[in-house]
Amino acid sequence: MKSVLLVALLACASPFAHAGGHADAGAQKSKVCAACHGADFNTPISPDIPRLAGQHRDYIARALTDYKSGERKNPVMGAQAGALSAQDIEDLAAYIGNLKGTLKVIPEQRLAN
Ligand code: HEC
Repeated sequence: MKSVLLVALLACASPFAHAGGHADAGAQKSKVCAACHGADFNTPISPDIPRLAGQHRDYIARALTDYKSGERKNPVMGAQAGALSAQDIEDLAAYIGNLKGTLKVIPEQRLAN
């Protein structure tokens, strides 16, 4: 029992524990998103649409989850995220979270400290 618990705890601590998304699948699913956020996710079509390239994977997944649940309210993104499954969200976050962009975020190494 103890070892099961330990394995579960270690799995949570691993940086890969939540990386259940598949970037290739995310790339396919992101085509609809690119219509607003830009093909490279760094050049949105309007200034009120955020850049996503360069953003952390877990931030993207959290934002989408919160739009879907209604925790974060926005009519446009609420409708977009409402149609996504948990797997879609992980896939999209895995893909978009890997893109390089001009967005300034705190580097992952510094967040870990
Ligand atoms: C019709 C235009 C449109 C489409 C299509 C769209 N978005 Fe958005 N997205 C927006 C707007 C506008 C916002 C800003 C909403 C807000 O103020 O909360 C946003 C915000 C976001 C955010 C939060 C960014 C942040 O900095 O907090 C994420 C993540 C996101 N979109 C991902 C996606 C994904 C993934 C898709 C495809 C499934 C998608 N969007 C499709 C317009 C769009």
